[in-house]
Amino acid sequence: MKYFGKTALLLCFIYITSAAKLKHTNKEFNQNRSFPADFLFGAATAAFQVEGGWNQGGRGWSMWDYHIETDSTFIFDGTTHEVAADSYNQYKRDVGLLKELGVNVYRFSVSWPRILPLGTPDYVNPEGIAYYNNLIDELLANGITPMITIYHWDLPLRLAELGGWLNEDIATWLGDYARVVYQNFGDRVKTWLTINEPFIICSLGHAFGKHAPRIESPSEGFYECGRNVLLAHARMYHIYYDEFKSQGGKVGVILNCDMAFPSTDSQDDAEAAEDYLVFTLGQYAHPIYSPQGNYPQRLIDRVGNASALEGYKQSRLRPFTPEQINYIRGTSDFFGLNHYSSYYVYRNDSLKDSFVVPSFEGDLYIGTYTDPDWTTESSMWIYGFAPGLYNLLLHIKKEYNDPTIYITENGSVDKLGFYDEDKVAYFRGYLNAVLDALEEGVDVRMYTAWSLMDTFEWDYGYLMRMGLYQLDTDDPNRPVFPRKSALVYKEIIRSRIIDPNYNPEPNDL
Ligand code: BGC
Repeated sequence: MKYFGKTALLLCFIYITSAAKLKHTNKEFNQNRSFPADFLFGAATAAFQVEGGWNQGGRGWSMWDYHIETDSTFIFDGTTHEVAADSYNQYKRDVGLLKELGVNVYRFSVSWPRILPLGTPDYVNPEGIAYYNNLIDELLANGITPMITIYHWDLPLRLAELGGWLNEDIATWLGDYARVVYQNFGDRVKTWLTINEPFIICSLGHAFGKHAPRIESPSEGFYECGRNVLLAHARMYHIYYDEFKSQGGKVGVILNCDMAFPSTDSQDDAEAAEDYLVFTLGQYAHPIYSPQGNYPQRLIDRVGNASALEGYKQSRLRPFTPEQINYIRGTSDFFGLNHYSSYYVYRNDSLKDSFVVPSFEGDLYIGTYTDPDWTTESSMWIYGFAPGLYNLLLHIKKEYNDPTIYITENGSVDKLGFYDEDKVAYFRGYLNAVLDALEEGVDVRMYTAWSLMDTFEWDYGYLMRMGLYQLDTDDPNRPVFPRKSALVYKEIIRSRIIDPNYNPEPNDL
């Protein structure tokens, strides 16, 4: 009894200390601390969300074009991507905005169907190539470094019809496409982001059917998609190093992850938080960044055990071969991170019967909720809690051997108009969390705000306005106007400190 008591106490101590490691507050704003001189600031967009020009210049259809054009109920507010921010015609305006902000880098994506209308390099569209050449040259002429996402969700329709992310050939297709991109733009572009957000591609697109290709396969679809994303990413990386190494660039993947805080000090909730990170981040990060490669053991065990209980002869998480493990391991020169929200998570008996079986959510088996203070009037699914980013950065440092981290997306939503005060508070809080992480020795080198201007927010259309610049979607010329967040961000970039009292007015730009 005495012995048991001691063990219990020890266990309790272990879990309390591990929970206490999470920090629930950031330091106060302090104008004595600043971003290092070589820290890079940027803004981000993606081709499908800003280019428009959907039937201009020989562009082919992506799977998103197909679902939007054939089902008017797909996008919540009934808007389309057809004109978007008109960046296809107004890229010089975009570069002007970036210059006005004073950013160092611009993260944008290449539209696969714009340069390969059929998906494969049998036909390379010269007008598509010319568009990106012009954009890159304009950026460089204005002292802004281009950073390209090769795949940001606009899979050519023809390849989607051949099975898309559920066909193993996707690795060959993406590799061939990446080769065209490196060949044409690699003389001037030195940072490559292979694939944007595997978890979102596979959950929203292949488990829940909310994003194109709208597949609802919450177990096998989700896991097979993730497996193929990892193989395709690795192929894009190897092609660069096998064929284009002399270009001297860097290649990495972008993973998205929200932060999970255990709801209580219980062991179950601590494990729920750990598993949340294993399923949403570790599934993709561990095969690439861990020294041993492969899926994390916790993921293998949870899905394997659940599959066995359900009567499957093999795990629903198909294992990698040893060759595949080696092929994927080490294929990222940096850790690209997109981060928006935090949750509290728990695991207890109340979850019984909450999930579809089989499904990855059933395998993960956690409940989530958020603090009402993390929501604003317009924030939709974004639950902003800046200490979440701080804790996540520390988790990545510890778990993945202290990688160089690029924050490739972070941002929030606000109502229309100049005074986007909630978004201003969000940016300041999160950038302050980055300063906290830098003080702890996290190797964060870049922060890229999402997004330069309001973008077509996928299934939300224009319901979510995330731009530093507001886009007038009623005007066919698509004029843009700076918001307060643009001015505040510009001042942070200029001064390299966060001044919570800087309070610009519309004509201060
Ligand atoms: C995506 C962006 C998107 C943003 C906000 C991220 O998941 O990479 O394309 O616009 O979230 O919705």
